[in-house]
Amino acid sequence: MKVPAICTRALLDLAVAVIGSLLLVPGSHAEFRQFEMTIEEVELEVAPNFRAKVWGFNGQVPGPLLHVAEGDDLEITVHNLTSLNHTIHWHGTYQTNSWRNDGVPNITQKAIEPGETFVYRFIADKPGSLWYHCHVNVAEHLGVRGMWGPMIVDPKDPSEIEKEVTKDVIMMFSGWDSDVAKEYGKGGHPRDIPDYYSINGKAFPLNQPLRVKEGDVLRIRLFSASSETAYHLHGHDVLVTHKDGLPLDSPYWADVVDVPMGARVDVIARMNNPGRWINHDHIEQHTSNSGKMPGGAVMIVEYEGIENDDWYVWKDKDASYDPDFYLTETMKKPYGMYDHAGYKGQPIEQKPGNKKKKKKKIPQPETPAE
Ligand code: CU
Ligand code: CU
Ligand code: CU
Repeated sequence: MKVPAICTRALLDLAVAVIGSLLLVPGSHAEFRQFEMTIEEVELEVAPNFRAKVWGFNGQVPGPLLHVAEGDDLEITVHNLTSLNHTIHWHGTYQTNSWRNDGVPNITQKAIEPGETFVYRFIADKPGSLWYHCHVNVAEHLGVRGMWGPMIVDPKDPSEIEKEVTKDVIMMFSGWDSDVAKEYGKGGHPRDIPDYYSINGKAFPLNQPLRVKEGDVLRIRLFSASSETAYHLHGHDVLVTHKDGLPLDSPYWADVVDVPMGARVDVIARMNNPGRWINHDHIEQHTSNSGKMPGGAVMIVEYEGIENDDWYVWKDKDASYDPDFYLTETMKKPYGMYDHAGYKGQPIEQKPGNKKKKKKKIPQPETPAE
């Protein structure tokens, strides 16, 4: 009598343990998640001596990181605090049975007017490196006003190589146009030519090094938000694993990776070659700040333990180093929506410097110009 009873209890305990462990697998059950986002008029410092007026999601460029699990039920309330209309398109999501949340003005919704609020509700039905952007007058709003941000949806079934990743790295490439940067409502004409380029909203040297250690396995998520990119990392080949969030049937090795406009490409880079390595957009025009080189879409991978030579361009970076500039730290946090202080713009009103300069331009014969 006793033996079968013990067996039954053991079996029951085992069953409970198995079910419990299944429930603990990340992403194995969907959650309802609510977020709140604003759109704000701020001025962004993109490069030395270059600032652009932007419409920043939560006042920043890129917009806040949205990190959720496949299958999550999302409700995102958006407040338009600016003087023009906007929407948000969740680029990559299928919007199955929720097409009215696709964020296209006059097609799936009326644009969100100044002072208005709109609630998006949809299931994160496609995993991978997705993003979001405004879909009103995209040539300006997405093209030169910073209206884009990352949305990472963790897959229910990650591939084997994804499980090896020690550092997630998000790099969003964009172009800027100084001719229209100071005036909302301008920009995006087919003949406009960008003259500044950036990674995560900052041109070299205002962006940050990526600090790694030997043995790290990086997953670099490349986003061509408003500038196409030929991404090149010196000293390493990278394994291209995903395109637009979709796992490739045959991942391939490369040392220059094309990322067409709007696309995302995920690559795996094994940190097996200690040193200090540049990585950059290989479209040469994208590596200057309005003609001044080096600049634009350039940054440096620094291995731990490599000494700073006194001629190294970023030898003084320690004081201002931001370990989360590529959202590596934020990606380790629980699912959620996260702002990043280093991406914030400044309120437009705060520019006493400019006002003073304008006053000085009024001809005053007795005042020396310099
Ligand atoms: Cu917009
Ligand atoms: Cu899009
Ligand atoms: Cu190079």
